[in-house]
Amino acid sequence: MDWRAGVVYQVYPRSFMDSDGDGVGDLDGIAARLDHLVELGVSALWLSPIYPSPMADFGYDVSDYEDVDPVFGSLESWDRLVAEARDRDLRVLLDLVPCHSSIEHPWFREHPDWYIWGGDGDGPPNNWLSAFGGPAWSRHPQTGRWYLHSFYPEQPDLDWHNPEVVEAFQEVLRFWVDRGADGFRLDAIDRLVKDRELRDNPPATAPFGLPLHPDEAVLEPRYSRDRPEVVDALAALRAAVGDALLVGEVYVPTARMAPYLTQLDRAFVFELLHAPWEKRALRDAIEAAAALRGRPGAGPAWVFSNHDFGRLSSRFGRENERAAAVLLLTLPGTAFLYQGDEIGLANGPGAQPPHDRLGRDVCRHPMQWDASEHGGFTTGTPWLAAVDPAERNVAAQREDPASLMNLYKRLIALRRDLDPSFRVVELSPEVLTFERGSDLVALNLSSEPVQLPSGEVLLESAPGALTRGSLAGHAAAVVRSY
Ligand code: NOJ
Repeated sequence: MDWRAGVVYQVYPRSFMDSDGDGVGDLDGIAARLDHLVELGVSALWLSPIYPSPMADFGYDVSDYEDVDPVFGSLESWDRLVAEARDRDLRVLLDLVPCHSSIEHPWFREHPDWYIWGGDGDGPPNNWLSAFGGPAWSRHPQTGRWYLHSFYPEQPDLDWHNPEVVEAFQEVLRFWVDRGADGFRLDAIDRLVKDRELRDNPPATAPFGLPLHPDEAVLEPRYSRDRPEVVDALAALRAAVGDALLVGEVYVPTARMAPYLTQLDRAFVFELLHAPWEKRALRDAIEAAAALRGRPGAGPAWVFSNHDFGRLSSRFGRENERAAAVLLLTLPGTAFLYQGDEIGLANGPGAQPPHDRLGRDVCRHPMQWDASEHGGFTTGTPWLAAVDPAERNVAAQREDPASLMNLYKRLIALRRDLDPSFRVVELSPEVLTFERGSDLVALNLSSEPVQLPSGEVLLESAPGALTRGSLAGHAAAVVRSY
């Protein structure tokens, strides 16, 4: 099967595996745990940023795009990781952060014209707001000039109208492709290009369509994001990488995603990620995204959780985590699986004081490999405590045929055999059903059992979930030739 249609496993490097006992995960740790990915059957891994960074936004504030932060290792540990991945037929995707750099990147001092400035007046040049709350402009302490930051003030936005910026990123991409990267997840890509004239955003008259920080939601982001010119910038990225996989973090409603897919291979479907566990919301989000087309082979990237928005079992509820796994892994196209979801890791308590100012520590707790105090993640003191390693860990779930992890394994194996075709069908009010060729996927969205048409049961979300045609509440199943 084409790896691009397989499952991509998101590794949050800080929290996956620590090889040197400093309490922070690293590349050698990831390399040492690649067999877990092989066991699951995924095709590729995506690494959240590994570049040198002051870590104001845990790596999404890059101070050198062509190196590895010492806390994660070195370029040599990257080379080792790539070699180990190749040996196992796993592809490796990096996270490119082109919208902004760290304020500590030498570019900010050496090439101020690569950034977006708004003069040195008494106030910011327009009313734009940051995705993380408050104004999107801060005053540069040395010069008194206003600079734009779509996220934290430590993340000044780069000016993609400047051809030198475009060339600099083309070089970055070529650097990593030459060094073994098979593709890139593109961070905050709908914010890459802004209005040249920096016009004020109008007041919002309708909801954006996806959750936003309440501060940002009061304006319609007409001039600060999702600009038509973004397609030219994406074309330049495409030109630099050839056929490497480009996956966009395109944080716009599905109805506005098509232009991005003229250049990108995949775009995350945030409408589905944010959908409540309700039939109509899920079905509408899936149908709209499944119809997306673009460059040859382009399509949706299905995702239910990541390091920003909370863990799968916390967002959908423990009772629905198995059915959610069935849904994620039976949709047509590429699925992204966030580390730890396969063992049902829930959101944790975070830390006091918090590491992340926005409260996202809760979904960044370390991977739990075994039942020991720190879950086998580190021999030192973990940067964030393990959540519940005694209840949930890879070693125990491997041995239990009925475990969530073994369900993920079965699903990832099964999805290779599913017909590429996809069609939502309506069989019963409480059940979300779709066909993959002559196979039927059914998810019971209610808490009561429902009757399904008979057929050969290929998979059930838990042992006995589908018995004599009755699908238990909250359960899911795949039935052949129904
Ligand atoms: C999206 C990333 O996933 C998130 O973690 C980060 O804070 C923002 N983009 C800004 O880079």
